[in-house]
Amino acid sequence: MRFLLDQDRMPTAWFNALPVLPTPLDPPLHPATNEPVGPDDLAPLFPMALIAQEMSTEPWIDIPGEVIDILSLWRPTPLIRATRLERALGTPARIYYKDESGSPAGSHKPNTAVPQAFYNMSEGMTRLATETGAGQWGTALSFACTQFNLDCKVYMVRASYEQKPYRTILMQTWGSEVVPSPVDDPSHPGSLGLAITDAVRDAAGRDDTHYALGSVLNHVLLHQTIIGLEAKEQLTLADESHPDVVLGCCGGGSNLGGIALPFLADDRVRLVAAEPSSCPTLTEGRYDYDFGDAAGMTPLLRMYTLGHEFIPPPIHAGGLRYHGDSPIISNLVNTGRMEAVAYPQGKTFEAAIQFANTEGKLPAPEAGHVIRAVIDEALAAKETGEERVILFNFCGHGLLDLSAYDDYLHGRLIDA
Ligand SMILES: Cc1ncc(COP(=O)(O)O)c(C=O)c1O
Repeated sequence: MRFLLDQDRMPTAWFNALPVLPTPLDPPLHPATNEPVGPDDLAPLFPMALIAQEMSTEPWIDIPGEVIDILSLWRPTPLIRATRLERALGTPARIYYKDESGSPAGSHKPNTAVPQAFYNMSEGMTRLATETGAGQWGTALSFACTQFNLDCKVYMVRASYEQKPYRTILMQTWGSEVVPSPVDDPSHPGSLGLAITDAVRDAAGRDDTHYALGSVLNHVLLHQTIIGLEAKEQLTLADESHPDVVLGCCGGGSNLGGIALPFLADDRVRLVAAEPSSCPTLTEGRYDYDFGDAAGMTPLLRMYTLGHEFIPPPIHAGGLRYHGDSPIISNLVNTGRMEAVAYPQGKTFEAAIQFANTEGKLPAPEAGHVIRAVIDEALAAKETGEERVILFNFCGHGLLDLSAYDDYLHGRLIDA
């Protein structure tokens, strides 16, 4: 069952969670001085419009018309009730998912790639540098750069570069230059933290280039709130007054924040993060200031972290292999507003395959994590006979992750 919004009902402003967090966010600190950073410290890397959004306390921020035009290529996205999955589980729960897999890049990532490219173009940049894990963010930014005639260089975590050659081809099709990271050690599997170091170093060294980050930062979660804002309206179309629980997988926190933050003020709604047990940032990390990258070049953020030198095992959910987490998501977990669960890789593929065999769509390995958590919620509702309303974000398809499914189906998956 699909619940569709007309094109003219697409949100025209993003929801800013900063003014309504349970406690104010601690400021980012300068890596050299340990003093709070100001806009000028961030100016070599980001356009002023994004720096302003990063710190804004306005409750709503208008989406520029040029951005809306491009988002309209695939938005509003459908809200789908997963009745076949419900039936297979024999659960009284009603499961709804927001399908973000229909974007040009196949995930939620273009929701922020497009405004980031737009603001950079508007402030005179001609080139962007970025990192990518599984390649979803790199493809999203590559697509966005084509729309604004920007050059793009992508530093791709080497483990994923080797596991997912088709993502590289897609980025190259959209005109980007893609290199494996770390650039200076061909035997290293890489990590998001190391790839961020490579991309930040590139951007800091050139006047025509800024850096773009696909997750973690406040402005990225802000851009993703379009997902939850649409979902809220679509649940009304489905005659649901509110979800009982909203879930997303969590790497840096952007797709989870996108679907969950618009429900923040509603105490009836539980919020849940699903992460890999091989990179258990929220469930086992410490809540502390740490660097966003491996070499300690970025500002220090107060977040859950496994330590900026942590190198996760090369699981297929490349987008969830990050040592830290969004300060907003970390704040919510630390204050008890959000729960977090962690799963080993094998269990997430079991869930992804059950989803593919009921709902038909092949989840990205990252999405397998949230689907595992959703199935567990639905089975818990079955135990208690509860009509729980479950909403989750289907953050991306796995059609370019078939080697991961091949490994699972042939018993080669490391159950990290
Ligand atoms: C499909 C997909 N889902 C989730 C993530 C994790 O990122 P975030 O936690 O920012 O949504 C990624 C990151 O690359 C991704 O590609």
